[in-house]
Amino acid sequence: MSNTIQIKIQPAEKSRLDLVNFNQIEFGKVFSDHMFMADYSDGEWKNFKIVPYAPLSFMPGSSIFHYGQSVFEGMKAYKGQNGEISIFRPEINFERINASAERMCIPKIPKDIFMEGLTELLQIDKGWIPGLANTSLYIRPYIFAVDEYIGIKPSEKYKFIIFTCPVGPYYSKPLKVKIERKYSRAVHGGTGYAKAAGNYAGSLYPAKIAQENGYDQLIWTDGATHQNIEEAGTMNIMFMKGNTLITAGTGDTVLKGITRDSVLKIAKEWGVDIEERTISVEEIIKSLEKGEITEAFGTGTAATIAMIEVIADDNKEYTLPLPGPDSFSTRIFDELDQIKTGKKEDRHGWIYTV
Ligand SMILES: Cc1ncc(COP(=O)(O)O)c(C=O)c1O
Repeated sequence: MSNTIQIKIQPAEKSRLDLVNFNQIEFGKVFSDHMFMADYSDGEWKNFKIVPYAPLSFMPGSSIFHYGQSVFEGMKAYKGQNGEISIFRPEINFERINASAERMCIPKIPKDIFMEGLTELLQIDKGWIPGLANTSLYIRPYIFAVDEYIGIKPSEKYKFIIFTCPVGPYYSKPLKVKIERKYSRAVHGGTGYAKAAGNYAGSLYPAKIAQENGYDQLIWTDGATHQNIEEAGTMNIMFMKGNTLITAGTGDTVLKGITRDSVLKIAKEWGVDIEERTISVEEIIKSLEKGEITEAFGTGTAATIAMIEVIADDNKEYTLPLPGPDSFSTRIFDELDQIKTGKKEDRHGWIYTV
């Protein structure tokens, strides 16, 4: 594919690759050699370049520091069976960053800039894609406001950046989660469906309280009544009850997870019944008490499929059996992993090969 944008490339003088121990990579702490950047001003995106991953400087009055006008994405690339670079469903991330951008009054990023910036960057840093089991290259595209201006209005200038991090597993063990009945992540009419930076800042305090009480994560409930389950931390949440996979509908308070969509599509093909609907906490607690729920798990790009072992509500804990090799969550984890790494045929056209 020939590029439609001109990308200026300034390679790093020396790669940092030989400093990395790929057998032990902590999630989100190792950054690859380069980043892709673009600027928005005078109504257009311009100055496309790939430069060494390095500090940037901004004026203290830059609006991003004050008003948080920023959106981001998260996706992953894998090493395929013949060493090719495989990205999982990047076009959906492209569509979602623009849906988030629209909500936050940020100009949309055109597809050629997003995809060509991404593919050029991955080609340059392909040595950073780990090949070991349960590893991948996490990709972080983001857009943020850079006007030097104090006052609330949409910025006129923005930066779009993509950088990457080789990563291992996000969670190393099944999770203990607490149903959050006081704090809210999202409300109707708000920004919950967008990957807007502020959503994540607002989630830190309730998550910190849960962690201080011994939980790994929260289950978010709806902002109006706190009686219905929406998401789990930065994942969508699913429950297996009999042969039915139950998850919250998306609407405007739940992020439309790409892993969620992929799991639902495969589950349907496997003959599992799917229910996307309002899920009351009461229903889940009653079903847990009766042992009707056999599996609960979070779905997300970072964590892929994160098994949930303990669910707590109102100081009571409910323990789920650990999923065995025939459980839905183990099978779907393996299925997705095999599709992403090219071990299984990509029947859905989900793999974008660079
Ligand atoms: C709030 C929230 N929910 C769900 C997800 C899972 O979405 P995806 O599967 O597209 O990574 C994420 C991660 O992006 C998230 O931040």
